[in-house]
This record gives sequence, structure tokens and C-alpha cells, in this order.
Amino acid sequence: MGRAFVYVVLGGGVAAGYAALEFARRGGYSRGELCIISEEAMSKGGGKPGGAGELKTNRDDMLLFFACGTIITQFMPCDSIIERVFLLMISFVSCQVAPYERPALSKGYLLPEDPSRLPKFHTCVGANDELLTTKWYKEQGIELVLGTRVISADVRRKTLLTATGETISYKTLIIATGARALKLEEFGISGSDAANICYLRNLEDADKLVNAMSSCSGGNAVVIGGGYIGMECAAALVTNKIKVTMVFPEKHCMGRLFTEKIADYYESYYTLKGVTFTKGTVLTSFEKDSTGKVTSVILRDGNHLPADMVVVGIGIRANTSLFEGQLLMEKGGIKVNGQMQTSDSSVYAVGDVAAFPIKLFDGDIRRLEHVDSARRTARHAVAAILEPSKTRDVDYLPFFYSRVFTLSWQFYGDNVGEVIHYGDFTSNSPRFGAYWVSKGQITGAFLEGGNRDDYEALSMVVRRKTKVLDMPELERQGLAFAIQE
Ligand code: FDA
Ligand code: NAD
Repeated sequence: MGRAFVYVVLGGGVAAGYAALEFARRGGYSRGELCIISEEAMSKGGGKPGGAGELKTNRDDMLLFFACGTIITQFMPCDSIIERVFLLMISFVSCQVAPYERPALSKGYLLPEDPSRLPKFHTCVGANDELLTTKWYKEQGIELVLGTRVISADVRRKTLLTATGETISYKTLIIATGARALKLEEFGISGSDAANICYLRNLEDADKLVNAMSSCSGGNAVVIGGGYIGMECAAALVTNKIKVTMVFPEKHCMGRLFTEKIADYYESYYTLKGVTFTKGTVLTSFEKDSTGKVTSVILRDGNHLPADMVVVGIGIRANTSLFEGQLLMEKGGIKVNGQMQTSDSSVYAVGDVAAFPIKLFDGDIRRLEHVDSARRTARHAVAAILEPSKTRDVDYLPFFYSRVFTLSWQFYGDNVGEVIHYGDFTSNSPRFGAYWVSKGQITGAFLEGGNRDDYEALSMVVRRKTKVLDMPELERQGLAFAIQE
């Protein structure tokens, strides 16, 4: 069983959606030549009030998916009736989903009132662009092979094998497999599959989290990890009237980016909202009741934290395994050049899985785990595939952001060098920031509470590597330094 395409995008997340839009805009393919393969599904419960909510709009696809499940289980070489029933059950309980804006899952999706639901946040609304529903893909002649996991890849033969036994061949492949959440088991802690322990990477995870929150109002949550997921979920839990304790090993939150002073501000703000911080330690195990639900988290120092639910955000691993030993790897991702092309000229990699050269950092190879990078690298790869002679090497300015409660920050560049802080770190509607300066030039800029012009100005001083002649003067001027440049 097999199908052949000219272009295959492997993965159906953020990068895949933006790649599809770029293909459609450039029109460099014919109907049926381009397909997106994605294993991503949402739970059937996602259609319930409070759940994912796309089932109504996707009923045709659901029926199709169910029918396919039935056919597959009839014709696949299943050894036993049990395997057939199992496969049929999988196809029945999961429902396919077209690419969507993943950042919504830790923000609008978790709101107690009027939460965001599909189809509202399909790509590419995150970049204020078109909303790509399944109907859009049909109209564009782009085949969506959804709810389908690719289990092996043969780069030399240019084929992918799916879990349903189908071989899909390509002339050009774009790898957009993103990343998976690290599990506590990988740190030697068992039992994280309990019904009230939540990770957050996809819609199914988000639905589990929404359900856990709805059955624990007024209760206690423990958040493991002080990074992006930890901070954004802690804010969402508090907004859902759940008491939160955050546990992480570092001295302060967002250790990969924030300075101690910046982290202090957010930790104080969270503390006023009722969040407790337990820093410099890790959990060692869980206590569970007779139903297997976690009742408390046990820390290394022996302390027990009562828990009606637990959210775990302890980092990710890029999904590279299909290509290990076949493509060059770097920085935990698939190494690409400025055209997003891997060590095999027919294969491109984009988004979280791609390690690409940052011109601004003198070609240093970085793997970025952020949505703006996924969107831009995906579009760049399509441009490079369709119009190689007109497409220059990618010149990306790293950009990260977050929104929690009524706060909102943005960061541009690299957080290396000496740090200068400026602005008001005391207010409840703050406006403060920091510059990172290395070798007399701005390398990074952070701002909380800015407006569009402020952020534009900051991005420009980083992009231009603006010279800093006088550090105290930079501190005195603060944001004005960027605005007047
Ligand atoms: P992404 O993970 O989006 O997609 C990968 C796709 O590949 C998935 O659909 C997966 O199912 C599929 N796949 C993987 N292996 C497969 C296989 N073998 N077969 C078939 N399909 C396969 N960033 C930011 O800058 N600002 C923000 O606010 C946020 N917020 C945020 C919230 C949450 C909850 C998460 C989890 C992440 C963020 N991010 C973020 C990060 C951002 O979402 C992330 O960088 C992008 O989603 C990366 O896009 P990709 O397409 O590379 O991976
Ligand atoms: P992260 O790397 O941001 O943070 C991981 C945190 O877990 C750190 O605080 C780390 O110290 C802690 N940790 C690691 N091991 C631990 C352990 N054994 N016990 C307790 N804590 C431990 O990763 P994340 O928060 O899981 O986010 C996952 C991905 O999602 C990242 O790629 C991130 O970029 C992305 N994301 C981004 C945004 C955004 O950009 N606004 C929002 C949400 C998610």
C-alpha cells in the first residue's frame, strides 16, 4: 500500500501550517502533489462543552476517520482479533486535527470564561493571517493525512512508513516534527501517568488539564518546573481559583532567560496572586490514593505538598529519532543550512526540530523552541524549495514572548554579556526592561509592558548590534536609548 507526493511535510503543528500557507501563496504545486502527515489527534471528549470543540465543524472528517479505521483494521495484517479491536478503538477515540497555534494551549485555552476553542486558533491566525481550516486545505488541494504516525523514514529511498502500514514517498521532504515533553520517568521518577498529572504539549494534554482543573476548583495544584509551561500554567491555575505551589531546582524562575532581578519581579507578582515558590529542590515521588490519583508530591527534603492535581513542565526533546544516523544532528536537533536544508539535499527541517545558523550570531547554530522561529523557518524552507535562486540564507532575529495574567513581555536576540536593567520594577502595571551588552554592542533586549513601537525599537537595536559607549548612560536612558536610535 503506498502513495507518492512531490512535497511531504512531516508533522502537523505550527511550522506545518505556515509551510502550507507559503506553498499556497507561491502556488508552486499542483493539486494532490503536496501532503501534510500528522499524528496529532484530540480526545473525543474534546467536543464536549469545555473541550476542544472542533468536532462539530469536523464531523465529515470524523466519519471519514472512523471509516478509515474500520477499513484499516479489516485489511491490515493484524495477527489477532484483539489487535483489530484495539486499532479500531484507537481510531474511534481519537479525532484528527489540522495544524493549530500551539501557544493558545497554555493561554486562551485554559481560561475559565469564554476559553478559546478550535477552529478559532488554527494556523495562521497567530501571525494575523488566514485561518486554515480543513476546508481551506481541501480547497488548496493539499492532502491532510491526519491522526497518522510515521514510524520510520528512509532518506535514501525517500520514503516514510506510517503506523497504519502505508508507505508514502516524496521528492522533497520538510521535517516539522517539533518536540515532545520530557517525562518525569526520564529523571527516575515513576507514576506520572496518573489521571491528575498533566503535561502540556498538545490538544489531548490541554483537554486533560482543563478536566483536571474543573474537578479541583478551590483545591491545590503543584506545578513542577519553573520555565515557560510552569509559569504560564501556574497563572492559568490561579485564574481558575486553584492554589498553586511551584517547584523547581533553580534559584529563580525562567532560569534560561530571566536575570535574578527580572525573575524577582514575576515571582513577587505571582506571590501576590497566591502562588507559593519552592525553589532549589526537586520532587522524588508521589503519594497516591487507592484509585491511583496523586494526593501529594514528596520533595527531596522529605516535605509533602498536598496536591489535587499536578502540572509538569520540565522541558522538551526535539523529535529527531526517525532521522538519527541518516541526517547530521546538532544542538539536539537536525542540522540545516541557511536554506533550512539538511545534510540530504532533498530534505529540509523547520521549527523546534531544526538547528539552523543565526547570521546575527556570526552563523552560530541554534535550535529555538519558539513559535515565531517555527513560522519563519517554515516559510523560508518553502521559499528555498520553490525558488532556490531567489532565496537568500535565512537571517533570523530570535524573538521570544509570554503573556501571563495582565503582564506581557518580549525578548529579542541573545541573553549573553553584561546586563543593564532599567524602568519601574515596582508597579502592578509595570514597564521595565534589560539590555544585554557584549563587546560594546547590544546583543539582547527584554521589555515588560511595552507597546508595538517600543518592541519595534528594541528589535532594531538588537538587529543593528547598536554600539554602547557608556553603560551608565544606557542605564539612565533605558527604553529611550532604543527609541531615539
Ligand atoms: P509542533 O510541536 O507545533 O508540531 C509538531 C507536529 O509534528 C505535531 O503535530 C506532532 O504531532 C507531529 N509529529 C511529530 N512526530 C511525528 C511523527 N512521527 N509522525 C507524524 N506526526 C508527527 N512559543 C512562543 O514563542 N510563544 C508562546 O507563547 C508559546 N507557547 C507555547 C505553549 C505551549 C503549551 C507549548 C507546548 C509551546 C508553546 N510555544 C510557544 C512553543 C511553540 O508552540 C513551538 O515552538 C512550536 O509549536 C514549534 O512548532 P513545530 O511545528 O516545530 O512543532
Ligand atoms: P523550559 O525549558 O522552559 O523549562 C523547564 C523547567 O523545568 C526549568 O525550570 C527546569 O529547571 C525545570 N526542571 C527540569 N528538570 C526538572 C526536574 N527534574 N524537576 C523539577 N523541575 C525541573 O521547558 P517547559 O517550561 O517545559 O516548556 C516546554 C517547551 O514549550 C519549551 O520549548 C518552551 O519554549 C515552550 N513554551 C514556550 C512558551 C513561550 O515561549 N511563551 C510558552 C509555553 C511553552
